[in-house]
Parts: sequence; structure tokens; C-alpha cells
Amino acid sequence: AQHNLEQIDKTEYPHINKGLDGIVAFSTTKSFIDGKSGELIYSGYNIDTLAENATFEEVCFLLWNDRLPNQQELENLKNELISQRELPSPVLEYIKTTSKDAEPMAVLRSAVSMLADFEKPDTGSGDEESIHHAVSITAQMPTIIAAFDRVRNGKDIIAPKKEGSTAFNFLYMLNGEEPGEAAEKTMDLCLILHAEHGMNASTFTARTICATESDMFSAITGAIGALKGPLHGGANTAVMNMLLNLKEQGEKADPVAFTKEKLSRREKIMGFGHRVYKTFDPRAFHLRKMSKKLSEETGQQKLYEWSEAMVKTMKEEKDIDPNVDFFSATVYYSIGIKPDLYTCIFAMSRISGWSAHYMEQAANNRLVRPRALYIAEKNLDWTPVEDR
Ligand code: ACO
Repeated sequence: AQHNLEQIDKTEYPHINKGLDGIVAFSTTKSFIDGKSGELIYSGYNIDTLAENATFEEVCFLLWNDRLPNQQELENLKNELISQRELPSPVLEYIKTTSKDAEPMAVLRSAVSMLADFEKPDTGSGDEESIHHAVSITAQMPTIIAAFDRVRNGKDIIAPKKEGSTAFNFLYMLNGEEPGEAAEKTMDLCLILHAEHGMNASTFTARTICATESDMFSAITGAIGALKGPLHGGANTAVMNMLLNLKEQGEKADPVAFTKEKLSRREKIMGFGHRVYKTFDPRAFHLRKMSKKLSEETGQQKLYEWSEAMVKTMKEEKDIDPNVDFFSATVYYSIGIKPDLYTCIFAMSRISGWSAHYMEQAANNRLVRPRALYIAEKNLDWTPVEDR
């Protein structure tokens, strides 16, 4: 059997592409990425413009409507999000039964799946139910994550505030005290930077599920499963664990030797490399700036310095740049968030992009159905079980 797809006759099978690199399967108004120049645009607006001016709620509206909201529309969306923050009590009960060692992304995945039981089903037709579900899942994901973290630490669950931004309310529910302006702004910026990113693995998963005319809860549950993996959203937790391992080595910590040694074993360094960007990820510029500032403010300069040493070594050794996950790790660490929650925060933001793509797919649907090249034998003779 032939196992190397590179060697297949391309004239017979012109579209063979392991990992679907460069294959266009959908059109979208949600985001544009130029991987060579490092440009990222959400529905017309450059990520730098959004990072400097927008709030996460404005970005949600933008992704769902392909335009910015006016004052009244923004107020309406904020109020709608606030009114949807509470969880149905069976979902809260489920969170209370989770084990201390449960994986946060697994709990988030199960809880989001449960939310479907309390809503009218949407049928993938992209109707009014879809936008209602997009808002409610966006509003409830922070409540799920914060409640789980409180429960596993033996603390009381804190009910969501009936005011304030998504970022503010999340930090409040997580820590039991209102965040300062700087922490809220940091969280808000992280939510903006992670909101949307083209046909990444989790968004592709969401669109594929939508394309079967399944409901939004199924699509988002599947997307959370895809994001969980360390080659996608799970990398941010892995980055922090790597830096904390270095920290444990105290005086002996040597990020350059650590990086080189891992590379010599042909191991991947988490937070580096990207299927589309072949230059510095534009989101990483913002996160790097934040990481530097926050690590200085919190006396964690070493973590930032080690990060920069790894960036330099990766560039010199492999010509590979950091992706969004690399500096986001130290940013979350500086505002006191536990490393195993980082991927959940990614999901809490990316829900905006996933649901936008769901509605876009539903509005112009075609079943997603690629092919796999069969590489085993054919028409074997049957051997009775006792003779095998
Ligand atoms: N560390 C070391 N080497 C790397 C890394 C890395 N992080 N990333 C890529 N490479 C090397 C590969 O070993 C390979 O080298 P080779 O040609 O000598 O074999 C070459 O660069 C190409 O790598 P691929 O794995 O083919 O690149 P691909 O486009 O398939 O993978 C991916 C992209 C999965 C993101 C990869 O860079 C990776 O595993 N990075 C680490 C995990 C990570 O940070 N994921 C988050 C991505 S961003 C996001 O999803 C939010």
C-alpha cells in the first residue's frame, strides 16, 4: 500500500493535500489572513485597529453582522449578553459534580453541550434562533469556566454580575472581587485578539458540523473539542508549563539550552510555528507588548526574558516565529489565571468567530465531504474466524 501522499500521481488526483493546506472550501466575510506579511483583518478592520479601539462586545457584533454597531445596538447587545449570563440549574449542578482533576476544556465541552437542552433547537438554517444561541453561549461560557474553577478549589460559585463587560464579569466570577481597570482591559484585549482566525481547525470543525444542518450547540461542542488539542488552542497551557518548568530550575534555568536541546530531539516547542503565518503573528506583537509590561509590573521579568530568549533561539535555529499562544501564556499568568484555564479563555473568545462562521455557513450551505485516498488492499478472500 502507498502511504506517502506526496508520491501520488497528481494528474490522476489533482487535489490531494495532507492537512488540506491551501485548499479553499468556503468563502467568508469574517476574516482575512496574509501569512506572508502577517496581516489579520476581521470583517474589514485590521487587528491593530481593533486592538487599539474596540471592545470584545463590539468585535462580537462586527463578526455576527459584518459591520460595527451604533451606540444603541452596542448597548442592546451588552444588555442581551448580561441577561443571558446565568446558567440553567442542571448545568450548575453538573459543574458541582466535576472532579477536582477534571480537564477544564472537557468540562467546558460537556457543559456547552448540555446548554442545548434548555434552548429551542436551531436547525442550521441560520435563522433568528442562531443569533440568540450565539449570544447565549457567548454569555454563558465565562460563567461555566469561572464556576468550575471555584468548585475545584472548594470555593462558592459566584453568580454573574448584572452589569459590566464580559472581561470584567469573568474576572469577578473567577476571583470573587471586581478587577481593576488594567486587568479588565488586558482580558478584553486578549478576547479581541483570539476572536476569529479564518479556517483554523476548530472553526473548520464548527462549519463542517453546521453543514450537516446540525444545531449550533453541536457545532460549538465539536469546535471546543478541536481547540483543546495541543497543536491548536491547547498550546498556551503547554507554553506556561514549559516556562514554569524553567522557573523550577532556579539559578540553573537556561532557556537557550532548553530550546536547543528540545530541537535536537526533534521535539516541537509549543507556541511557535503556524500553518498560515510564515512570519511574526500580528496578534503576538500585542501580546508581547502586554507580556513585557505586565511581567515588569508583577515582578515576573524572568518569565518575559526567557520568552524573548526562546523567540531569538527559535528564529536563529529554525527560522520559526511565535504564534498567538506564546505570549498570551505569560499575559494570563500575570493577571493571576491558572495555566490550565488558558485554553478555556481562548474558547470564551473564539465562540464569537465560531458562531459567526456557523451562521455564514448556514446561510449558504453545502455539505462538507472531502475524500480519503484508499491505500489498503482490495477484494481479499474471506478467512473463517477459526482459521485466522
Ligand atoms: N517547534 C519546533 N519545530 C517546529 C515547530 C515548533 N513549534 N513548528 C514547526 N516546526 C518545524 C517542524 O518540525 C517541521 O520541520 P521539518 O520540516 O524539519 O520536519 C517544519 O517546522 C514544518 O512544520 P509542520 O509541523 O509541518 O507545520 P504545520 O503547518 O503542519 O504545523 C503547527 C503548524 C501544528 C502549528 C506547528 O507549528 C506546531 O506544532 N507548533 C507547536 C504547537 C502550537 O504552538 N500550536 C498553536 C498554533 S496557533 C493556534 O492554533 C492557535
